[in-house]
Amino acid sequence: VVPKTVSLKDDDEEEDVGPDKVKLTVFFGTQTGTAEGFAKALAEEIKARYEKAVVKVMDLMMINMRKSLRKRPSIFHGCNYSYGDGEPTDNAARFYKWFTEGKEREPWLQQLTYGVFGLGNRQYEHFNKIGKIIDEQLSEQGAKRIVQIGLGDDDQCIEDDFTACENVVDCRREQLWPELDLILRGDDDAESAHTPYTAAIPEYRVVTHDPAMISYEDNHAVVANGDASYDIHHPCRVNVAVQRELHTAESDRSCIHLEFDLSGTGIVYETGDHVGVFAENCDETVEEAAKLLGQPLDLLFSIHSDKEDGTSLGGSLPPPFPGPCTLRSALARYADLLNPPRKAALIALAAHASETSEAEKLKFLASPQGKDEYSHWVVGSQRSLLEVMAEFPSAKPPLGVFFAAVAPRLQPRYYSISSSPRFAPSRVHVTCALVYGASPTGRIHKGVCSTWMKNAVPLERHNACSWAPIFIRPSNFKLPADPSIPIIMVGPGTGLAPFRGFLQERLALKREGAQLGPAILFFGCRNRRMDFIYENELNDFVDQGVISELIVAFSREGPQKDYVQYKMTEKAAQVWSLISQEGYLYVCGDAKGMARDVHRTLHTIVQTQENVDSSKAEAIVKKLQMDGRYLRDVW
Ligand code: 2AM
Repeated sequence: VVPKTVSLKDDDEEEDVGPDKVKLTVFFGTQTGTAEGFAKALAEEIKARYEKAVVKVMDLMMINMRKSLRKRPSIFHGCNYSYGDGEPTDNAARFYKWFTEGKEREPWLQQLTYGVFGLGNRQYEHFNKIGKIIDEQLSEQGAKRIVQIGLGDDDQCIEDDFTACENVVDCRREQLWPELDLILRGDDDAESAHTPYTAAIPEYRVVTHDPAMISYEDNHAVVANGDASYDIHHPCRVNVAVQRELHTAESDRSCIHLEFDLSGTGIVYETGDHVGVFAENCDETVEEAAKLLGQPLDLLFSIHSDKEDGTSLGGSLPPPFPGPCTLRSALARYADLLNPPRKAALIALAAHASETSEAEKLKFLASPQGKDEYSHWVVGSQRSLLEVMAEFPSAKPPLGVFFAAVAPRLQPRYYSISSSPRFAPSRVHVTCALVYGASPTGRIHKGVCSTWMKNAVPLERHNACSWAPIFIRPSNFKLPADPSIPIIMVGPGTGLAPFRGFLQERLALKREGAQLGPAILFFGCRNRRMDFIYENELNDFVDQGVISELIVAFSREGPQKDYVQYKMTEKAAQVWSLISQEGYLYVCGDAKGMARDVHRTLHTIVQTQENVDSSKAEAIVKKLQMDGRYLRDVW
């Protein structure tokens, strides 16, 4: 919060907020939309509580670094989700780099009052790293922290940690609201300082259309094709060119190889990048949702975040999807139907339940008293939104409420690209394990995107092939610039994906005459006959001298498990010798199990090979990481 005495001269559109007003900004960094939702909810509550506050919610992506921060700093209540290897979210990455690398002390930061709320998962090594760093550095630079950092943990219930951050009964709320009261309340509204607040349920305006009257095109699918700069907000529609199963018929699981056709789109990528894919919910899920809503699938409608006269509906509704579109398309492409519903969704359902008993139960689940039941019955049992709606059949929210307050926007899924543009310039390859299994309630949970990929129809099989909006997310998981430098790759299961790209790249380089250094690949799977994916290709890479040694751990062939890290231990001397020759170590795959165990193994290898104690070994591993020679692509 910036006191009025400090002049923050705006040099463009900044509206005049009036002499008694105080500007606040809620910044968010978001990967899947969770932090964005929290940031908006907080902004709404601040607006409702304080007449004086002019609140803006701002995507960290939109910050014009120092200039925008200067222009609009007020309150800095940032949400940042540190995922995987403790990276900032994509939209926060530029800001984070600027903020943490800036050497020059920013004097205006001393006028800033702020709070940080981080989102993360305690099972990951880098729990809430980004939030903690931003919080510490703001304080170091002289900004005034008004609430202690909130550390949301999505293994618990993030929503509770977040509301805990604002809740009257909670000590953090005891810090936040009194501080904001001091800054934002006029004397006259001091009376109402502790009146409870109930948020209004957001709602879009819905217009239904007669399919006979307008020429309906699948315009929800129109994406910026032909434009070379695509991102999460501007994905590009691409066809599925190839789709095939990688497991053999003996396997009871499934892993799909899929190729998106980039020709004519202008999309470019680098080996090691990720692709974001907007998939569709499967027909069965969509049909179930329409039934629960009591609406026909062919209903043609559009939603609007403004009133008929063009004025704003108020609130912080995200822009609606382009319309008109059928309910079938809207449910397939834009609604997250299979995750457990947020408490705000339960409140919105309650408001539209015709049975009083159902409305009461829904409200209870969303209330502080119902906290345990919510975390057990909804989160713990992984009840999907549709499952919850099925339990409360009288709750039939109108579509404007459903898309604004009940079903979050369906988010893209990210995959490590399993090809190299040097080898496949007009294709992005994806290697995707099917997510399929019983949830605690006995529902068969099918992952949205992997199921879509499993059912995708490729162009090679049919002209009316499947397509999806996609975009590229750059990564720093890259081969050394000099191909003669030794590399060690560790990637069991679909962790093999980026290494297939690496190997294609090395093959292309070799064909251009480059001298390749040694390359060891540690791969792991259950059984050679079932899930040794890309076996022939890997053997070819060995034959062509692109892999110098292929080491495979089969976990379910013998009486004992064999894992990649056990193979690394067997080869400890060789592994350490290559790394010591300026070599690079890459690990890709599951973060909570495999990558953590491989990290421990590396630590032991360093200790034994260098004959040093544990803390010295840790320092050596840290240095490898800092030097960018120990890289992880984990999830
Ligand atoms: P498992 O399922 O038989 O336990 C790819 O998924 C391979 O990684 C499988 O062979 C799987 O073995 C193995 N895997 C599972 N947990 C692992 C861990 N913590 N470290 C290394 N490999 C693991």
